Amino acid sequence: MADKYDFPKTRAQLNQLVADLSQLQTNIQQTHWYMRGENFFRLHPLMDDYNDQLADQLDNVAERLIAINGSPFATTHEFIDNTGLPDEKVTWDQLTMRDFMQRLVDQFKYLRDQYQRESKSLTKKRTFQLKICSTALRKILIRISG
Ligand SMILES: [Fe+2]
Repeated sequence: MADKYDFPKTRAQLNQLVADLSQLQTNIQQTHWYMRGENFFRLHPLMDDYNDQLADQLDNVAERLIAINGSPFATTHEFIDNTGLPDEKVTWDQLTMRDFMQRLVDQFKYLRDQYQRESKSLTKKRTFQLKICSTALRKILIRISG
């Protein structure tokens, strides 16, 4: 029966991840562009590294969704309508480096939680990758706060 191979909950959760991974990439790009200060040369390329990882995850999640007859969100409107992450317009001087980093730590935690809701079909590798990003950001946060 077709129903046996229908996975509506998995499709919904994977599409949630598509929206969240897309939004997080936008928020990281904003941080990449807007950051200033003494840690710039270390953090600016780090944001590129994180976005490369997220782009890779996004492609994997979207293709997994397609494999189970889903249609990944593919427009910015769909991402914004469905993500649980903020889409905040700020100016470069409105937030401190610490604020930018704290924001990303919170957003990585949110994304990790989203992955854990779909633990059956997604690998531990991705949550581990996110944990590494989040831990690195927390360390940066402690360093720039001290
Ligand atoms: Fe750049």
